[in-house]
Amino acid sequence: SRIFVVNGPNLNLLGQREPGIYGAKTLADIAADLVERAAGRVELEFRQSNHEGDLVGYIHEAGLEGAGVILNAGAYTHTSIALADAIKAAHARVVEVHLSNVHAREAFRHHSYLSPVCVGVIAGFGDRSYHLALEALLEMQS
Ligand code: DQA
Repeated sequence: SRIFVVNGPNLNLLGQREPGIYGAKTLADIAADLVERAAGRVELEFRQSNHEGDLVGYIHEAGLEGAGVILNAGAYTHTSIALADAIKAAHARVVEVHLSNVHAREAFRHHSYLSPVCVGVIAGFGDRSYHLALEALLEMQS
């Protein structure tokens, strides 16, 4: 089955958004790297939205088709009960990812509503966090 790569608010601005924290790569660069790594192994489906409800919809969609999800929910990680409920309701297999090490940053980034309903969490490796999440989902699938 496919793997959804879902990015939340402000991640469309990667490359220009606080590059000291989030790196110089754009979301398109990260997507291109992932496509290369996934080639011949799994089909990827990319989504990005700045709207919480859209993200809820993507999780439902992935859950319905039994697809794994690489999810960077951005700041909704720290606020969204709706997104946590969606992961649960859709029985979606989700790996939570963050570019930055959220635990080394402000206290309000230390709590995630999503972690308890995710398979696992990868944070702090920059764009490599996405690569590691892909490998984790592929290893669990095989
Ligand atoms: C982030 C960390 C969040 O705290 C922040 O709101 C983001 C990006 C990360 O990838 O490091 O938007 O999810």
